[in-house]
Amino acid sequence: MTSLANTSLNPAALDFLERIERQFHVDDAQLQIIVDQFLKDFEAGLNKNGQALPMVPTYVTHLPDGTEKGTFLALDLGGTNLRVCQVTLLGNQQVEMKQSKYRVSDALKTGEAVDLFNYMADSVDHFLTTTDVAPGAEDEDLYLGLTFSFPVDQTAINKGKLIHWTKGFMATNAIGHDVMQMLQDALDRRHIHVKCAALINDTVGCLLSHAYFSGGCILGAIFGTGTNGAYVEDFTKVTKLPKGAFEGTLPKSMVINIEWGAFDNARKVIPRTIFDNKLDRESINPRFQAYEKCISGMYLGEIVRNILLYLVDNSILFSGYSSKQLNTHYGFDTELMSNIESDKSDEGRTVREILTEKMGIDDQSIGPNDIAIVRWACKIVAGRAAKLSSCAVAAIIHETHCAEGNEDFLDVGVDGSLIAFYPGFEDGLRESLRTLVGESIEKRTRIGLAKDGSGIGAALGALGALKAERARAGVPMGDGVGLNHHLPKGLAMTEMHPETAAA
Ligand code: BGC
Repeated sequence: MTSLANTSLNPAALDFLERIERQFHVDDAQLQIIVDQFLKDFEAGLNKNGQALPMVPTYVTHLPDGTEKGTFLALDLGGTNLRVCQVTLLGNQQVEMKQSKYRVSDALKTGEAVDLFNYMADSVDHFLTTTDVAPGAEDEDLYLGLTFSFPVDQTAINKGKLIHWTKGFMATNAIGHDVMQMLQDALDRRHIHVKCAALINDTVGCLLSHAYFSGGCILGAIFGTGTNGAYVEDFTKVTKLPKGAFEGTLPKSMVINIEWGAFDNARKVIPRTIFDNKLDRESINPRFQAYEKCISGMYLGEIVRNILLYLVDNSILFSGYSSKQLNTHYGFDTELMSNIESDKSDEGRTVREILTEKMGIDDQSIGPNDIAIVRWACKIVAGRAAKLSSCAVAAIIHETHCAEGNEDFLDVGVDGSLIAFYPGFEDGLRESLRTLVGESIEKRTRIGLAKDGSGIGAALGALGALKAERARAGVPMGDGVGLNHHLPKGLAMTEMHPETAAA
């Protein structure tokens, strides 16, 4: 317990904390077992629906190489905000973008799904009427890629039924429905000439965008509010797809949206603590998204809060006093953990500020030991998350055999607040990855932030759909495909609209 070594905690308290820390420790052998289980679950999920991992075939059969051109709309639902973007792919690994953000209230997240989809259509309408977007040519609709960051059962590039919500969404009458159809219906009701062309998970968007800018990518992964990954699989291994799922020539490969947040729902391989169990029991989706609940930003703060309360109740922390905020479900945001771990000062001034100002803890109850304990709690929870994350990355390296027979770099495109901002998260992931795949492969693994996968990736998805459509109709693709490619050039523009388009 290095981070508590310099405290004046008594041996009984240290022993108490040590027992907690042990629960969060995952040793190398356990990490390897997790990777092996991933590989088994990949295979099962590719063979049959309804397995531990959804392994969703995305109907994306090619990765971009940076030469793609065209202008498309992208709509992004699944993170903090709803975003509408107009993306112009310039074909030389360059893009131009305009975007507007719209707030998604809790009422929309938990109300009737039709209201949510109406709101999405209204936001597209608002974007088109307030942004300098040239109209499509006569009779041509604008092509839109929807980044929808939830598990769907996808049956075509533009069709997919929601399996279940994650990350705090629970709008009614959406599960089992085709989300693209719901969006298209909402747009059609408003006579908005936009065609929903491609349904893209954010991880798929991340993979596509990273490939566009880097020329290749083995994995697109999100470590943010939620967690998930997408990779390119050999099509012959996707045996669960019904015969006839493709007209004409079968593709050589297909991007698979793993939906790895659901890994170990059966609780076989990840060691769990009482704090995880409490979180799960009190969540809106108990027994679902087990891996995500140990890893992602939506949950890490809540695990820490559970630990802190337990310590308060055992009179080890804050002289046994809590606060209204600390007692509130999800009252300790993962962002605070990140700020706490960023404070490297001896006395922990920022930690104290967070505890008093954000968490409402009485300053008098906070001694130096308390500061050390709070830092320690954040460290053990985030440290485990980083370690567990490495297992999914290692499993993909094994599954795709991408490191074998070459000395190439293995490009991994990532996005999400944890990997982008949490101090030491990537280092922790890399450290465990090294033990899992060996030092030379770990060194060759280039983890890079994907540039706006949800916007640029959705545009690349829409372009892929348009290409496939034109190929089926025997119409050649011109240069500058897509619509409105005569847009004025300009820097990215972002505006935030507080429920302007509310239904
Ligand atoms: C969703 C995934 C998504 C991930 C990251 C998870 O909760 O199920 O579809 O890719 O979050 O946003």
